[in-house]
Amino acid sequence: MIFEQYYLGCLAHASYLIGSEGEGAVIDPQRDIGLYLDAAQRHGLRIRHIIETHLHADFVSGHRELAEKTGAAIYVGARAGARFPHVPAVDGLTVEMGRCRLRFLETPGHTVESVSVLLTDLDESPEPQAVFTGDTLFVGDVGRPDLAPDLTPQELAGLLYDSLHEKLLTLPDDVRVYPAHGAGSLCGRQMSSERSSTIARERQTNHALQARTRQEFVEQLTRDLPPRPAYFHHDVEMNRTGAPALEHNVALPGLTPGQLLYYQKDGCVVLDTRPAIEFAAAHVPGSFHIALGGQFASWAARMIGPEERLVLVAEDAAKVEETRMRLARVGAEHVLGYLEGGVPAWLKAGYETSSVPQVSAAELSEWSLNPPSPMAILDVREPGECAAGAIAGSLRVPLGQLPGRLAELPSGPYLFVHCKGGYRSSIATSLLRRAGFDKVVNVTGGFDAWAAAGLPVAVEGGSGGACSRSAN
Ligand SMILES: [Fe+2]
Repeated sequence: MIFEQYYLGCLAHASYLIGSEGEGAVIDPQRDIGLYLDAAQRHGLRIRHIIETHLHADFVSGHRELAEKTGAAIYVGARAGARFPHVPAVDGLTVEMGRCRLRFLETPGHTVESVSVLLTDLDESPEPQAVFTGDTLFVGDVGRPDLAPDLTPQELAGLLYDSLHEKLLTLPDDVRVYPAHGAGSLCGRQMSSERSSTIARERQTNHALQARTRQEFVEQLTRDLPPRPAYFHHDVEMNRTGAPALEHNVALPGLTPGQLLYYQKDGCVVLDTRPAIEFAAAHVPGSFHIALGGQFASWAARMIGPEERLVLVAEDAAKVEETRMRLARVGAEHVLGYLEGGVPAWLKAGYETSSVPQVSAAELSEWSLNPPSPMAILDVREPGECAAGAIAGSLRVPLGQLPGRLAELPSGPYLFVHCKGGYRSSIATSLLRRAGFDKVVNVTGGFDAWAAAGLPVAVEGGSGGACSRSAN
């Protein structure tokens, strides 16, 4: 049997290729499908089956294009309302593929149409050895239960409890668990960075599986649900129809500084994807900064949205193409061009740049002990991160909520913005500058640098009163 897991760090997304005796199946394909076609060719497989464990909300799947290129059948839960030719993946449906067997389990809860897939390698044993759990069961967590418009989170969480306890957790201990997402995904909260697990290990260590009753599970899972990113609806609908093939064979137009300015004045967002330090030193005034280095696509979709028209600023042509691909993976496809020659060309043409002052953790500490001007510290990490340790007296607004909560921030004082390590704070500084906050300072190295320097850390419930000024 051939088994490959593909992990896309940008979206914390795992997809899979299974093959046996010249036939292949792909589970939860990413938008750009070349890697599956290449692997199939390498292994001498014909892809016959494409499985969507559910209609993904956080990325655009390549199922339709892959089916068009290979002639494979697409399997998706019967309740998905899929608008492409498909096989309804009902409970017990079995697909024989060479010496492998795939059997579907309907496991609603994360969404109503969610399915899991049992894998049996008949050369090894007649019993299933693995289960693809989609977003029903992760390593260390379970899927969020608030993505169905017709059911309440409580109703979905109840279904999820039944799916877990009546189906997945009844599997033998040593069955391996292969989920669709890992740490950092927006489809759960406390996922592990490990890429697979076993039923026994999840039963013992997964926090969501420790609830003693259905009611306790529902209460725990629906308490303090993070806001649902606005772009989720857009991506679900793209997946329900099936995204069209990517048309990236046409090169993106290079723009002169004058053309970029024209587009910017016309309402396009200038998106700069260079490393934070380069953005801070000099950038096109008014640009949004999201570095390619982190979970770029998720943040771009959340902070800008897939519908906006974009023009790109990157280090070179290869980074421009990489940016364009990563944006397409979340359904952001209105990219009109890129600044040819990047910021050096902008400078050479005599245009002004903006910059963002940077301070170290030690410098922030000095400022806060003896402020030469009024100041505030803005922490854009998630509530769970802040609760574990924060700078006393800081304001707290998670980055994902910042666009809707700008009115809570003081506009007069200097705003020192930090996150964990500097990735999210740079996004926040660009957002704040675009919103008219002109005294914004980025704290390099973030809270990790603050803690590593031995500076005082306040813990929620401790003496520092860390959350007393929380803006949450
Ligand atoms: Fe999901």
